[in-house]
Amino acid sequence: VMSTEEKQKNVRTKPALSCTQAIEIIDRVFGRTVLKILPLPSYDDQNFYIIVSDSNQFRDCVTEYVFKIARSSDSENADLIEAQTRVMMFLKERGFPCAMPVLTRDGKIMSLETVDCGLGNNEYLVRLLTYLPGILVAKISAGPEVWYEIGRMAAQIDKAIQEFQHPTIKSLHRGDFIWNLSNTHFLEKYTCLLGQDGNRQIVEEVIQQFKEKILPNLSKFRPCVNHGDLNEQNILVESFKASNEAAGKELVQEYQISGVLDFGNVSYGYYVFELAITIMYAMTVCQEPINIGGHILAGFESVVPLTPEERDAVFLLVSCRFCQSLVIAEHTVLLYPENREYLMITAHPGRKQLCNLWKMGKEAIEKIWFGIAASYKGINPN
Ligand SMILES: Nc1ncnc2c1ncn2[C@@H]1O[C@H](COP(=O)(O)OP(=O)(O)OP(=O)(O)O)[C@@H](O)[C@H]1O
Ligand SMILES: [Mg+2]
Repeated sequence: VMSTEEKQKNVRTKPALSCTQAIEIIDRVFGRTVLKILPLPSYDDQNFYIIVSDSNQFRDCVTEYVFKIARSSDSENADLIEAQTRVMMFLKERGFPCAMPVLTRDGKIMSLETVDCGLGNNEYLVRLLTYLPGILVAKISAGPEVWYEIGRMAAQIDKAIQEFQHPTIKSLHRGDFIWNLSNTHFLEKYTCLLGQDGNRQIVEEVIQQFKEKILPNLSKFRPCVNHGDLNEQNILVESFKASNEAAGKELVQEYQISGVLDFGNVSYGYYVFELAITIMYAMTVCQEPINIGGHILAGFESVVPLTPEERDAVFLLVSCRFCQSLVIAEHTVLLYPENREYLMITAHPGRKQLCNLWKMGKEAIEKIWFGIAASYKGINPN
């Protein structure tokens, strides 16, 4: 448990600009006049939804943007934020539905601003990003087809980033990043936060197995740069009505992915990490949580088929991500108790899902997931 001093130091890392401060920066740094500004929810960064006037001599128009203020721990690492933003721009160029940074008046993708949020001056990296259309996957009851597509896109993203090059790329080796699945054992010192009822025993078992089975064998996985946070709050979808032949030309609701958000967790990892992360978050929101892993796996493997070692690790890695989500959320609540509701969005349903998953066990779960994945290929799993 943290000392008061530690707590205060950490509290300061979450930016808390007022709307007035944000409007001033957007005007001075990006040359845009804000018509409307609304705070967006966030974990560690601060985000605002804004509408600006983009009128010029040729046209009158208003445009939506997201104004993003990086947490101060990341603000000290300009190379990291630059690398993440460049990855986002690279993917956008490759056709993925990502946001674009609006350039500052002097042509940069971000700016370091000195702001006093009430605790003295602090420096924050700020960016203005284009707003993407659609609704959060969290807000729809996404069926297996949507999750298959998300699994496919997860693999496509990792595969595409292999060709990304930039002088700042080295900063994506974030050795001590708490959200990197390679660092699951870092959670050990915080499991006490869970209390005896909050799955503490399961979390400890998962960490133990991670240390025995995954940690010594990481070199057997194929490395890549991961998005690292493909959760239901970071993916937007747009619905359209499609005519379905099978249903007698009846119009059915379909969805296509219209936005991939939040490049704040981008770091070096492994293909199988991206898959495990995607499965875990899907399990916290979907109707059939146990089956959904199979559909996501099928989508992922339609682009990047897994090796036997990677397949063998999926169950445990999904469990590890549940543990990260639970433990880190509890830890962050200590820092920002007023943000409890948002912080617990995925952690809370995660408790039940981790419990189910762990009780069913690796063999039973793999039978379901691998069976569903095989059915997409028309192969009999047995
Ligand atoms: N470019 C965008 N277009 C549309 N909506 C966005 C965009 N950026 C952010 N949002 C909305 O704001 C929410 C929070 O943004 P984002 O995911 O980038 O930050 P975050 O989750 O707070 O990041 P972190 O966890 O790193 O603190 C999203 O879930 C989404 O609802
Ligand atoms: Mg997010």
